[in-house]
Amino acid sequence: MAGRVAGKRALVTGGAGGLGRAMARMLAREGAKVAITDVDGAAADALAEEINAEVPGAAFGFAHDVADEARWAEVVADAVEAMGGLSVLVNNAGIGGDLVFVEGDTAANWDRQYQVNLRSVMFGCKHAMPHLRAAAPASIINISSIAGLAAGPGMGAYNATKAGVWMYTKTVALEAAKAEWNVRCNSVHPVFIKTPILDPFVAMAGGDEGAAHQKLARGIPLKRIGEPDDVAFCVLYLASDESKFVTGAEFKIDGGMTAQ
Ligand SMILES: NC(=O)c1ccc[n+]([C@@H]2O[C@H](COP(=O)([O-])OP(=O)(O)OC[C@H]3O[C@@H](n4cnc5c(N)ncnc54)[C@H](O)[C@@H]3O)[C@@H](O)[C@H]2O)c1
Repeated sequence: MAGRVAGKRALVTGGAGGLGRAMARMLAREGAKVAITDVDGAAADALAEEINAEVPGAAFGFAHDVADEARWAEVVADAVEAMGGLSVLVNNAGIGGDLVFVEGDTAANWDRQYQVNLRSVMFGCKHAMPHLRAAAPASIINISSIAGLAAGPGMGAYNATKAGVWMYTKTVALEAAKAEWNVRCNSVHPVFIKTPILDPFVAMAGGDEGAAHQKLARGIPLKRIGEPDDVAFCVLYLASDESKFVTGAEFKIDGGMTAQ
């Protein structure tokens, strides 16, 4: 099949959620096979079925908690078998949660965000790397956040874990470059994008989604929050060989937010 990622074999974690869903659809439409993994395995299967109705044989669903290293090993092996290899890894799964301020913060909050947002990215890179090397040219795309580059009150654990994803991406990029594996690794940093991860902000606005989104858009120079495809287009570029000279870089999808 023709397309910008024709012949690529991609694994997208948290693939049934707002951003992952847009990425999986776009990669499949552009010619890739896609393993959609999510802690909600039924949602991953349902999305794979939807995509296969449009692009037959393109998608596979897997139940996968990214905090669980043993499950990473199984899912990577199963995805490689289903797709015939692995050339793109998108570490997308992540959690936000309620705002927690410094004096009320807890070990449980930090441990959970660390496990799901940051340590998972190491597991993914570790278990995918032998397959990515075998399928090179290959690409790892880690979904950080603008919150990994700029802080916000009440977001201590999220800021810290997303900053960790940003820096870990560079470590992996440099290791792979030094070893001449032809595996690139980059991070993507979205600002607010319309997905369920923004639900706590909607709850704070008394359930009024429009009002919540408007409020979030106030600090953004383009005066709106993003759409999932705004991020998916960046992932598509990084998954494709169009970005073959790009590694260890960060991509801000933020409507100009951090230009201020
Ligand atoms: N939407 C935004 O505004 C925004 C902004 C910046 C960064 N991000 C990042 O983008 C990524 C995707 O977020 P989203 O907006 O699509 O969120 P979302 O809540 O819509 O989707 C997240 C998906 O991850 C899955 N998930 C949660 N915990 C998991 C686990 N332990 N293992 C596997 N899957 C798990 C969920 O089931 C869900 O399908 C996250 O890393 C998030 O931090 C989102």
